[in-house]
Amino acid sequence: MTPTNPNAWSGIIRRYAEFLPVSEKTPIVSLCEGNTPLIPAPNFVRIIGGNFRLFLKYEGLNPTASFKDRGMSLAISKACEKDARIVICASTGNTSASAAAYAARARLQCAVLLPHGNIAMGKLSQAMAHNALIIGIEGNFDDALRLVRELGNTAKLEIVNSINPVRIEGQKTAAFEICDQLGQAPDFHFLPVGNAGNITAYWRGFEEYHERKLTDRRPKMCGYQAAGAAPIVDGHPIENPETIATAIRIGNPASWQSAVAAAEASEGWIEKVTDEAIENAYRLIAHSEGVFAEPACAAPLAGLIRCHEAGRIPEASTVTLTLTGHGLKDCDFALQHSESSIVPVKPNAADLLKALGL
Ligand code: F0G
Repeated sequence: MTPTNPNAWSGIIRRYAEFLPVSEKTPIVSLCEGNTPLIPAPNFVRIIGGNFRLFLKYEGLNPTASFKDRGMSLAISKACEKDARIVICASTGNTSASAAAYAARARLQCAVLLPHGNIAMGKLSQAMAHNALIIGIEGNFDDALRLVRELGNTAKLEIVNSINPVRIEGQKTAAFEICDQLGQAPDFHFLPVGNAGNITAYWRGFEEYHERKLTDRRPKMCGYQAAGAAPIVDGHPIENPETIATAIRIGNPASWQSAVAAAEASEGWIEKVTDEAIENAYRLIAHSEGVFAEPACAAPLAGLIRCHEAGRIPEASTVTLTLTGHGLKDCDFALQHSESSIVPVKPNAADLLKALGL
């Protein structure tokens, strides 16, 4: 069932079907994901002393508040087409939230494997709200993904991690939207890198639009890992990845090769930033633009600040940057890292005026 107005937004599969592995027979499972805003960020650029145009692709405004919903809409649709009964994924939180929601919508069972004790509460509460089977692995994300791989796909069980190629296909639609919204491809695209599926997906999207002559250029892909969880930058898997950005706390990314290929083919790069730089950028974007994003999103912001300082962003460039998840996903982090606090005031106008400094 779609809205009667054919121009109403009804999700990424219906909008971009010609680019996706779907047919008339594919049952579309959608929560009207996609169509997220591309928000200009002039204050942020001014504060860091830049002279370029920055746009934030705010993926926190998807139905489960992260970019995962694009790939999940397609993955769950294909699982239904195949008559799968259970979908399963390993996750640092957002994939599980999205899988749980789309599985509920499709009336499928959903099992999620989470690194015990290292999940932001907002994400865990989503998996619980949608009634997924939640398995706490005494290990990290890489252990959880290894276990999922060991199970493998069977007739009844469908893996919905990005090792399932349709996830990447769905996620590439964010690159299409950026080109559609800008009216061209950007010069640079910045984004966080964890399991490395998203950088792979964006590059594919930018390439496909370019091949079809819908754009006349492709951006440099600029991916950012956290310093304590930077296997691609360090050149080897990290056994015990550590970072405050739990979403990208990953030591052995599944799409490692294709992420490197995307950076190389686009003449971009994959680099790392410290937790301290992540924390500063996290505050700056929320303070300066009124945009609230989860900590992992601050990795590319920190990277952009550093690139600007090093003179790597030419004047008048167009830069796009994906904010992959909403800040409300990780309220604990927001509360712990805020410079603001609650000012207690007695319930009278005089005390209130004093508190206001008036
Ligand atoms: N940003 C957020 C908010 C994420 O949740 C993730 C990955 C990434 C960035 C990195 O994207 O893996 O495609 O390189 N989250 C996965 C999860 C691992 O399980 O939710 P990637």
